[in-house]
Amino acid sequence: MIRNLLLGMVGLMLTCCSSEGEAVAATPAKVAAERGKTLVAYYSYTGNCRSIVAELKKQLDADVLEITPADKTQKYEANGYAIGTQLLSAISDNPTDEGSYPEIDAVATDVAEYENVVIVTPLWWSQMAAIMQTYLFRVGPTLAGKHVALIVSSASSGIDGVVADAERLAPNAVWMGEPLWINNSNRSKAGTLLAEWLPTLDFKQKAEIMEMNVTVDGRTLTASLADTEAARTLHAALQQAPLTYEARDYGGFEKVGSLGRSLPTSDVRLTTTVGDIMLYSGNQAVIFYGSNTWEYTPLGRIENISAEELKTFLGAGQGNKSITFSAPTPTSVKSVQKAAASKAASYTTSGVRATANARGIQITNGKKTINK
Ligand SMILES: Cc1cc2nc3c(=O)[nH]c(=O)nc-3n(C[C@H](O)[C@H](O)[C@H](O)COP(=O)(O)O)c2cc1C
Repeated sequence: MIRNLLLGMVGLMLTCCSSEGEAVAATPAKVAAERGKTLVAYYSYTGNCRSIVAELKKQLDADVLEITPADKTQKYEANGYAIGTQLLSAISDNPTDEGSYPEIDAVATDVAEYENVVIVTPLWWSQMAAIMQTYLFRVGPTLAGKHVALIVSSASSGIDGVVADAERLAPNAVWMGEPLWINNSNRSKAGTLLAEWLPTLDFKQKAEIMEMNVTVDGRTLTASLADTEAARTLHAALQQAPLTYEARDYGGFEKVGSLGRSLPTSDVRLTTTVGDIMLYSGNQAVIFYGSNTWEYTPLGRIENISAEELKTFLGAGQGNKSITFSAPTPTSVKSVQKAAASKAASYTTSGVRATANARGIQITNGKKTINK
């Protein structure tokens, strides 16, 4: 969908004719992420990331947040980049201590309100610029379950160290697409690079793989999660810790219990079927082994299970049961990307990470190679 929008947009930008056949410039349509709001958070010392964000804003419907250091007097490049180096050494000496990170100005934007976040950061000595590290250190836990993408600007150095910093600081983010590397040799084409890169984020596809485990009496089934704010909030919470609640039978068709926390409601009147997991009254989870018509917010669904199998699994008619929702062992996006990142990454000359079988000129560890 985003790809189609973009292709349409690029087509419009390239040629758009008036009734007399005269070519006129078209205003580019912005791409909106298909799910939720998008925040672009960036830091820029010498202006390159600021320019990238200006290009990005032309193509992506997003709010922008600039991270700024509390101390505006620092010359990070002075004395052979001594201050920049000191800041990074302090972080790598003690990365779990907030005191290791340089102070930044207070941030009014609450990242919790956004579903998608694009981080745009300079590279310093093959690591993420220290100022951006402070921001990610603070908001990293809030990024759990969110769709996060990364753009790195360097003079020429490869970006694997920055990718590693991002994964350390936001370990439970769902990383979107491949990180985009913009450097001195491709900077002038940033607009084209972004237009090629944005469709690869494919927010919709990644959102569809949201799942959770449901465990009762030591047995576990996997449920797919619904496309609701409640399900996304639950999914994000489960990346931090499993959630166990007590459930009781009700009406001969459901197992229901309080989650001990509220989730955002978007209730609709519907008739449930076997396997549905619904939020009832904002804070109760209901798993249906039968059917009922009421106002619920969909949370998810255990697929391909009969009423009898689900009754056995839930201990229907056997009184209260402890039910645990938990995040499935990470597979897909993150582990696949980690595996890819562990190899020396190759990039096309335009800065996009090359796929395994890509042909033509590529840059690996700063060296040009030709893949025939
Ligand atoms: C302290 C510091 C260290 C840097 N280290 C590197 C480096 O190791 N390799 C590199 O290619 N560029 C390095 N750069 C250059 C920046 O990554 C590059 O100019 C980037 O585009 C700056 O983004 P900005 O203008 O948004 O601050 C460094 C810049 C600074 C200030």
